[in-house]
Amino acid sequence: MDAREQLRRYLEQRRELGESEFVLDGLSVEDAMRVLGAASGTGDWRAALKAAGATPAERSAPAVAPLAPKPSPASPPRVEAASAAPEPRPAPASEPAAPPKGSDGAPPSGLVVGTASHELFGGNQPRFNSLEEIAAAVAACTKCGLYKGALNPVPGEGNPNAEFMCVGEAPGAKEDETGRPFVGQAGQLLTKILAAINLTREDVFIGNVLKHRPPGNRNPLPDEIAACSPYLIRQIELIRPKVILALGTFAAQTLLDTKLSIGKLRGQVHRYYGVPLIVTYHPAALLRNPSWKRPTWEDVQLARRILDDARARG
Ligand code: URA
Ligand code: URA
Repeated sequence: MDAREQLRRYLEQRRELGESEFVLDGLSVEDAMRVLGAASGTGDWRAALKAAGATPAERSAPAVAPLAPKPSPASPPRVEAASAAPEPRPAPASEPAAPPKGSDGAPPSGLVVGTASHELFGGNQPRFNSLEEIAAAVAACTKCGLYKGALNPVPGEGNPNAEFMCVGEAPGAKEDETGRPFVGQAGQLLTKILAAINLTREDVFIGNVLKHRPPGNRNPLPDEIAACSPYLIRQIELIRPKVILALGTFAAQTLLDTKLSIGKLRGQVHRYYGVPLIVTYHPAALLRNPSWKRPTWEDVQLARRILDDARARG
């Protein structure tokens, strides 16, 4: 892939995530995309951007919380990185800025659920020994009424050895039709969000709190969550990821056993039986409220950093 194509893809990803200006100081992503369309193959992005009238300028204060107030010498604009030697994959942008930082710069610790024992649940739940066993049990499950109105169970899918696990709320119409999680519009956005932190759907495991679709996509009921969440918990236990990304209110509140809002829960590193858990907005919520894309970007960057740190430690 040449540098231009790589930059184009990179900018598209950033735009998907709601970035409008941080990539190129003083130049909007829209403008940059126009420049990309217009410029012919010099390969020198600085020159192309300058020729298009985009003199790098101090940005005025953005309307929303900035990701990184100013590109610092330590984190040059990505454009330069892309125009120099094309990297095998676009580097994620610089460090997340939103979460209040501890004095050492680390994001604050959040809620702690359970202890980091080898087995997550100690209780009297059925001891499924594999993800396949769980999927079979879900397919036969009548513990709540949702199975009656559902076309298919949606047990979750992905890498059984995933280091990164995404947890959503419940299947929607497309998921119900196909039996696969996050394949509708919100799912397509999730796939892009994962791509932005260099993860594919095959890398991760994607599951939900509820495994059958609530009629008309209504909110999960407490009884349904109580009946269904043991499947999710056992999935987490079997997969034992290095990071859990809880998408939206129900996933976050269920796993963290709290009523706190997403706004309060995000930006912290919670612990779920020893596994770092990051909370962010649900992709469906992002489709309704694009101003949440920027905080989501920060959250997933944090999740990615935790994954990298955990890998580095072995
Ligand atoms: N929303 C969810 O929470 N999960 C899905 O699988 C799809 C949409
Ligand atoms: N409300 C939700 O249900 N989900 C979000 O992610 C944010 C607000």
